[in-house]
Amino acid sequence: MPYQDFRQFLDVLRQHGELVDVDRPVDLDDDVPKALKQTCVREGPAFNFTSNGTDYPLVAGLYASRSKALLAFEATEETIFEKVLSGLDHPIAPTTFSGEAPCHEVVLTGDAIDITRFPVPIYSPKDGGRFITAAIVVSKDPETGVPDIGHYRFQVLEKDRFTFFAQVFHRFGKNIAKCERLGVVPKGALVIGVDPVLAYACQVQCSDTTNDWDVAGGLRGAPVELVRCKTVDLEVPATAEVVIEFEVDLARKVLEGPLGEYTGYYTPASEKPTARITAITHRRKPYFQGLLTGKPVTENHILKQIPFEASFWRTLKQQFPTVGSVAIRASGGVQFYVVISMQPRFAGEARQAILAAMATNVRPKWVVVVEPDVDVHNPSEVEWAMSFRVRPDRDVFVVEHTPAAPLDPSIDNSGPLATHTSSAVGIDATRPVGEPFAEVADVPGWRDYSMPELKK
Ligand SMILES: Cc1cc2nc3c(=O)[nH]c(=O)nc-3n(C[C@H](O)[C@H](O)[C@H](O)COP(=O)(O)O)c2cc1C
Repeated sequence: MPYQDFRQFLDVLRQHGELVDVDRPVDLDDDVPKALKQTCVREGPAFNFTSNGTDYPLVAGLYASRSKALLAFEATEETIFEKVLSGLDHPIAPTTFSGEAPCHEVVLTGDAIDITRFPVPIYSPKDGGRFITAAIVVSKDPETGVPDIGHYRFQVLEKDRFTFFAQVFHRFGKNIAKCERLGVVPKGALVIGVDPVLAYACQVQCSDTTNDWDVAGGLRGAPVELVRCKTVDLEVPATAEVVIEFEVDLARKVLEGPLGEYTGYYTPASEKPTARITAITHRRKPYFQGLLTGKPVTENHILKQIPFEASFWRTLKQQFPTVGSVAIRASGGVQFYVVISMQPRFAGEARQAILAAMATNVRPKWVVVVEPDVDVHNPSEVEWAMSFRVRPDRDVFVVEHTPAAPLDPSIDNSGPLATHTSSAVGIDATRPVGEPFAEVADVPGWRDYSMPELKK
C-alpha cells in the first residue's frame, strides 16, 4: 500500500528508528545543518526539529540514507530496481480529490502571506540567504498543458517574494522560457511534505511531453490525488503539508545565490527572476521540510540516485540490449561520473553506448564502459578494468563542446546558463571484440567455498 501522505511516512520512519524528534531548542543556521551533515555521513536518522524558533516543526534528513529510500519505495535492495522499472513501465493517471483537501485547511492570501514564518535554514555559511531546498515545483507547458514536477532551489527574499534557479535544460526552466516567448506570465506551486515517492518521481529522467503525475502514480502503484490550487491554474497533491502558489516576475531580477551545491562547491550569485507568492495554503499544524545539499553524499544525491539509474538504464537498454547494469556514482554528484556494463556485440558498440550516455540529460563528464564481469558499483573493480583493459591512445576519447553538466565549477560560468559548454571523456574499458586478449586469472569456485575460519 502506498503512503497516503507525508505523516504516514513519518510514522513508518519512527517505527524503524529512522526519525528522531528533537524537542530541545535548535538554531536553524547552526545546529540544523551540522546535524544533517552528521546524519548523512553516518547514514543516520531523519530529524523532526520541533523547537526551531518558528511556529512550525522542521522535518529534515528524510533522504539522508539509502535505507530511508528503500522505506520510501517499500522495497529492499534486491527488489528496488525491478520495482522502479515496473512502475515506469506502468504509469497511472492522477485522480481528482473529492471533498475539502487537507492542503486547503488553511488558506492565506493578500497580507496574510508570510513565507518568513516558516523554518528555512541557512545550510552553508556563505549561502546568499535562506533556501527552500526540499520543495517540489509544479509547473506546466503553456502550450500543451502537460504538467511537470521537479526540485528547484528557492531563496526567500521578503514575506511574499522569492527568487529561484531553474536551469534552461530542466522542464521548469523550459516552461518559463516558453511562457516568455508567448508573452504569458509563468506560474507555479511549491509543494512541501508529500508521499516520498513523489519526491523520487521528480528525479526520473523523462521526455518533455511526459505527464509527471502519471510517472509518480506508476511508482506509487496508485493514482496521485490532486486538487486545484486557489490562485494559479495548477493541480497539487491534496494531502501536501504546505503549498506556496506563485507567479514569476520576469522583469524584476535580483542576485540569487551563492548556495553550497550538490557538487560540493558554492555556485556564485547571479541575476535571476523573482516570483511573487499569490497564496500559501497548508494543513492544520503543518510540517515544513528541510534538505541538505552539498559535498557528496547528501540528501540531494540519495534522492537522485535510484530514479536516475533506473531511467538511464531504461534509455540505454532500448538501444543496447546487452547493457547489464549502470552506476551513476554519488561521488560525481549522481551526474558527472557514469559506469555502464555491457557485452559489446561488435567493434565500436561500447563507444556508441558512451556517446548515447553523453547525449542524455544526465550529461556525464566521465563515461566508462566495462564488461559484465566487472561490478559497476565497486570502484576497485572498475579501476581494475581501466588499468588493464584500456589502451588510452585507442580507448579514451574526448568529446568537445558538450553542454555543461549542471553547476560544473571547472568551467567558465560567467555568461548566461544557456551558453555554458564543457567536454566529456569516454573510456572503453572492454576488451576488443574478436581479438585475442590475456585470460583472466581468478580462483574458480572461491565464492561458494566454505571457509568457517574466515569471519564474515
Ligand atoms: C534537492 C534537489 C535540488 C535541485 N535543485 C535544482 C535547481 O535549483 N535548479 C535546477 O534546474 N535543477 C535542480 N535540481 C535538479 C532537477 O530537479 C532534476 O534534474 C530534475 O530531474 C529536473 O526535472 P524536470 O526537468 O522534469 O523538472 C535539483 C535536484 C535535487 C534532487
